[in-house]
Amino acid sequence: MAGAIVYLLNGPNLNLLGTREPEVYGKQTLADIEAAAKKHGEKIGLSLDFRQSNHEGTLVDWVQEAGKKAAGLIINPGAYTHTSIALHDALKAVACPKIELHLSNVHAREAFRRVSFVSPAVDAVICGLGADGYTLALDAVRRLIEKRA
Ligand code: DQA
Repeated sequence: MAGAIVYLLNGPNLNLLGTREPEVYGKQTLADIEAAAKKHGEKIGLSLDFRQSNHEGTLVDWVQEAGKKAAGLIINPGAYTHTSIALHDALKAVACPKIELHLSNVHAREAFRRVSFVSPAVDAVICGLGADGYTLALDAVRRLIEKRA
């Protein structure tokens, strides 16, 4: 387990955290979240590869890469959650434990956010816990990795 690689991928507009609708997504920047996640990862024996892209194809490439290199995958796909069959298909092809993560409670918002193309392709979903969701997702993916070992 020590040093197991976990990919933590972030989709479109998450680079704007801190200034983007802070009443919905909180005041922490993505850099703040990355620093806290890396610190927590170290504490629980995970080596974190933390990335963000606004581009669907790049995210698909990274999911495929995770399939070859990672022991676990956490993804906040942003708005691609609700649109991307390409991400669904890419995730289906990855065998390691996978968690879908959202800062906001997508089920308590607009109707279009209740549809996820990602959920059927992952092991678990965490949403509505703000930035804390990132560290909780790390704990959860660690458990899933342990269970599979
Ligand atoms: C989000 C929820 C999505 O609906 C939205 O498009 C985002 C962020 C979240 O973390 O709450 O960009 O994934």
